Amino acid sequence: TLTPVPDDRFTFGLWTVGWQARDPFGDATRAPLDPVEAVHRLAELGAYGVTFHDDDLIPFGADDRDRAKRIAAFRAALDATGLAVPMATTNLFTHPVFKDGAFTANDRGVRRFALRKVMRNIDLAAELGAGTYVFWGGREGAESDAAKDGRVALDRFKEALDTLCEYVRDQDYGMRFALEPKPNEPRGDIFLPTIGHALGFIERLEHPEMVGLNPEVGHEQMAGLNMVHGVAQALWAGKLFHIDLNGQHGPKYDQDLVFGHGDLKSAFFLVDLLEHGGYDGPRHFDYKPLRTESADGVWASAAANMRTYLLLRERAHAFRADPAVREAMTAAGVDELMVPTLASDESYADLAKDDFDLAAAAERGYGYERLDQLAVEHILGAR
Ligand code: GCO
Ligand code: MN
Ligand code: MN
Ligand code: MN
Repeated sequence: TLTPVPDDRFTFGLWTVGWQARDPFGDATRAPLDPVEAVHRLAELGAYGVTFHDDDLIPFGADDRDRAKRIAAFRAALDATGLAVPMATTNLFTHPVFKDGAFTANDRGVRRFALRKVMRNIDLAAELGAGTYVFWGGREGAESDAAKDGRVALDRFKEALDTLCEYVRDQDYGMRFALEPKPNEPRGDIFLPTIGHALGFIERLEHPEMVGLNPEVGHEQMAGLNMVHGVAQALWAGKLFHIDLNGQHGPKYDQDLVFGHGDLKSAFFLVDLLEHGGYDGPRHFDYKPLRTESADGVWASAAANMRTYLLLRERAHAFRADPAVREAMTAAGVDELMVPTLASDESYADLAKDDFDLAAAAERGYGYERLDQLAVEHILGAR
């Protein structure tokens, strides 16, 4: 069905529908959105949950009374609607104190302040039942390579995550961390710019089992990379803890379009992978309603994310169920790749025994053109 229901596990950041559309060249085009209203509207649209940065819910510097009041109102909205909070994160990028980063700021006082800010919001995230805590290091980076020794910056990044893992373990929160790579923007170059960089980094941490990824469609595409391959590698490594779905048109500024409104064909293969690849976490939309939109356009765009996902899910099922696709896949050898190159009782010595027809293998076609066109026809609803 194409009507979103909580079982579909669609979630939205408060900062997405709440984006006032301030950009580097222009002022806000929309009024602030009360988180309580966001929760109610998203629930009406069929979402499963909401996520937030500390500062989305509680303005930076709010006093304790104001903070408690806002949390109580948010909680009441969650209770009234049944919306879950599966993930939370920290704003370590808006306040000027973070202009040189948070965990990798050269100023040690800033690094210590950042850790306190994260721990405080981890406590709230745990209270609200979040199982995943995201780290998007938007300001962790540099414009000049004279500014930081990249090796030392990674030491500090690791130190921060190790410290926070220890905190979560001591509190028995059972929470997992998800790193969100991005190549650039707002920094000229951001540390851990891609899925691959982040996967390599995680293995050097004290508790690699607690740390995985939150890849974002647009961020891999900004780096000119294939999101589907990146997500496949994260799944292969057991590290797809969460995912940010949105749209992007290739390497340019971070567009955060509605899911499917960028590279639609890649979105189709991504949904196919998520649905058939064993990912059971939230389908989290991290997008920005276009700056041209008023409130109506905001809610239309929220609904569009979910409907596009459901349409692509339906298309992916139809693709997999189509006998012509099955046949084209078999002809192309898609299943053959599942057969190990050496049988379980073989060693490299057995390779010498092959009676291999070199000419025939060099000459054969794989039929990928036919298969790819079948995918396009399914995306277009022509089959
Ligand atoms: C971006 C990022 C951010 C983060 C979010 C979580 O578009 O650069 O996606 O939106 O995901 O802020 O910290
Ligand atoms: Mn983005
Ligand atoms: Mn974003
Ligand atoms: Mn994101």
